[in-house]
Amino acid sequence: MTSPPDPLAHIRDLFDLDDDVVYLDGNSLGAPPKAVAERVQHVVRHQWGRRLIRSWSEGWWEAPERVGNRVGRLVGAAPGQVVVADSTSVNLFKALMGAVRNTDRMEIVVDEGTFPTDGYIARSVSELTGLALRAAPPEELDLRDTTAVVLLNHVDYRTGRLLDMARLTEQVHAVGAKVVWDLCHSAGVLPIELDALGVDLAVGCTYKFLNGGPGSPAFIYVPKAGQSAFEQPLTGWTGHEVPFAMAPEYTPDPGVTRARVGTPDIISMLALDAALDVWDHVELADVRAKGLRLTSHFISLVEDLPGLELITPRDEWRGHQVSLRHPEAKRIMTQLIERQVIGDHRPPDVLRFGFAPLYNTFADAERAADTLKTLL
Ligand SMILES: Cc1ncc(COP(=O)(O)O)c(C=O)c1O
Repeated sequence: MTSPPDPLAHIRDLFDLDDDVVYLDGNSLGAPPKAVAERVQHVVRHQWGRRLIRSWSEGWWEAPERVGNRVGRLVGAAPGQVVVADSTSVNLFKALMGAVRNTDRMEIVVDEGTFPTDGYIARSVSELTGLALRAAPPEELDLRDTTAVVLLNHVDYRTGRLLDMARLTEQVHAVGAKVVWDLCHSAGVLPIELDALGVDLAVGCTYKFLNGGPGSPAFIYVPKAGQSAFEQPLTGWTGHEVPFAMAPEYTPDPGVTRARVGTPDIISMLALDAALDVWDHVELADVRAKGLRLTSHFISLVEDLPGLELITPRDEWRGHQVSLRHPEAKRIMTQLIERQVIGDHRPPDVLRFGFAPLYNTFADAERAADTLKTLL
């Protein structure tokens, strides 16, 4: 079989990959661009090693906003609205608490298939604030004028289903509620228009399709129009208007910096900064187009294999993973990994194959499908 032509083939060369491995888990941990190792060495040896504390005033202090603007470009946010900091879970807490602060509404709604951390954090926010928490399917949110905020996962981590951000944001706004989007599985694989859609708040991680590295800091989007009213609960000194005044009272920064909490994780942040250079050479529309073709190609190769049930939408309402159900999913994934085809297993019976269009190839899809076939 001849593989379809690959418009992003040249980008794969920017990554440090083992050609013997078919890596289909970039939706959990992205692969490292080659430039990252060198940059991290420079940060450690030169910026930390030689410049020492001076580096804080030579670019480190503003890194959360500067790198945030680079991530912002990939999610449709104009500069000054995204900071890179903390983990997605922590940013979700800030976003949800900020969204319900001073509300007289009664409930928080979360999509019922949400990634667990979102559900746990929403539960905690509900307990701390006294608002009710309701889980609902995104097709039937049943929103009311008592709904304060709706937390939605743009792409479902289990099935790969993609939600219609434009329609749902409008639907939430129609009842006067706020929407918080979790972009963990969509940032870096498809065009997102946070500003244009008037999204209230968004969070996402950078270690999946943005290839920032294990545990690289997450991001939070607070649009200009909502910044002065965004009172987040973690009032740490780096979100202060004048942190080095060391004032006894907390005064939040007027801009998105108020979403910061404590000292940024510089080494990880600058690894992410280096990883983002790859995006200077690609358009998100091309990434999306290739991702859809890669996943279609893989689906066409595996959907008729015995015992497998495709749970990822066949139409374009999907992200860049293909999820298949099989009663022996755990055994199959263990054996795939032994054969150098790396995806993952989500209990009880889901096999996930993530396709990162920047470095995965049509040949990867074919080798994974062939190996899967031999194990069924
Ligand atoms: C949708 C979603 N939200 C949140 C997280 C994790 O958040 P954190 O970065 O805090 O570990 C994940 C991790 O896989 C995720 O898939």
